[in-house]
Amino acid sequence: MRAVDIIMKKRNKECLTEEEIAFFIDGYTKGSIPDYQMSALTMAIYFNGMTDEEATYLTKAMLHSGDVLDLTGIEGVKVDKHSTGGVGDKTSLVVASLVASLGIRFAKMSGRGLGHTGGTLDKLESIPGYSISLSEEEFIRQVNSIGLALVGQTADLAPADKKLYALRDVTATVESIPLIASSIMSKKLASGADVICLDVKVGSGAFMKDLESAGKLAKLMVEIGKSFHKNMTAVLTNMDEPLGYAVGNALEVMEAIDTLNGKGPKDFTELCLEISSHLVLDAKKADTIEQARKLCIRQIENKEALHTLAKLVKAQGGDERYIYNPSLFKIAPYSIEVCSLKNGYIGHIDALEVGNVAMRLGAGRAKIGDQIDHSVGVVLRKKVGDYVKKGEPLAVMVANTNEIEEEKNRLIHSFTIQDEQVYPKLILKVMK
Ligand code: URA
Repeated sequence: MRAVDIIMKKRNKECLTEEEIAFFIDGYTKGSIPDYQMSALTMAIYFNGMTDEEATYLTKAMLHSGDVLDLTGIEGVKVDKHSTGGVGDKTSLVVASLVASLGIRFAKMSGRGLGHTGGTLDKLESIPGYSISLSEEEFIRQVNSIGLALVGQTADLAPADKKLYALRDVTATVESIPLIASSIMSKKLASGADVICLDVKVGSGAFMKDLESAGKLAKLMVEIGKSFHKNMTAVLTNMDEPLGYAVGNALEVMEAIDTLNGKGPKDFTELCLEISSHLVLDAKKADTIEQARKLCIRQIENKEALHTLAKLVKAQGGDERYIYNPSLFKIAPYSIEVCSLKNGYIGHIDALEVGNVAMRLGAGRAKIGDQIDHSVGVVLRKKVGDYVKKGEPLAVMVANTNEIEEEKNRLIHSFTIQDEQVYPKLILKVMK
């Protein structure tokens, strides 16, 4: 088999076989197929697409390019969730705590933030002492003893995806449905959970800008998961504004804690309840989605989910006092307000731009390996649908300097203010 023939086949809009895809991924992972041939293939896939079958073969090849976690040592059903990447998305912290507080095993390996999107690991590290590194044995032992673990990748999971994603990032081939689906699903399948809920973001702050393409991506990921005998749900959710009010690491953990105290933002609380309810239902802890939702609400009201978060933090070396007293979090000293230039309703908040402002303040990384500042970020004062008067604050930048004119300008222009009121819909579709 020759790489060039496989590239030519895809260039000519033909379907690749399982053997051809496996040959290409194996050669690329081992280094016998160079970046330039992989780039040519991904560009051909970008333009000519893949059938669902080809995407499943690609997922399988990437899944088997490295370790596959064996979670059989964990008793009961193991659940996991994944978001395709959003701004202000601290959902994993709340969902993990809620679901695990009901006795469901939540075993999650998370990622770090890159570009305008944040990562769960960075958020957790704003809690002093929290360690994201557990060995595979410690990971399994912790899930068995307290019901949950939230760690960085321990094993060498889907190394082909790691290499390929970095290549796609610099060859303008990220936004391809089969490539995104196989990238996400190879990692999810390698992490070993039985029940998976995917939060597929739609809108200006997401990879998928419209409902149709997000639906295609969700359907493909659900089908791939099912072909590996996983219990799959995909929830399509609006990313036409940041989720909740807080964007930035410590600020987001504080908002997650508020949510577990029953005082979270409406949209964020709703998303957490939606995802948690699907996991509870699919883990067979409830007979209907309504019953699952009631259970989740109860775990917030009786503070069991909050106590579960504290247990997680303590088990991973963090200071659990922060969970009960969020004023302990170190927050940057300058709060700089951005005020509205006119009266009107908020029609749209460019989540991508808000994420970029938070990143430029130091909350995120422009490139892999950059240091981040957990204490900075952006806190919205208005959300889509709210009325604002001229001179009233739209958002606050929490920063370590007050010389941030450019960020201020960017932030103000990320708000669209209009005469008509809009009523944003958060949960756009659920697919099983
Ligand atoms: N997230 C991933 O892990 N992979 C993609 O291709 C896009 C988003």
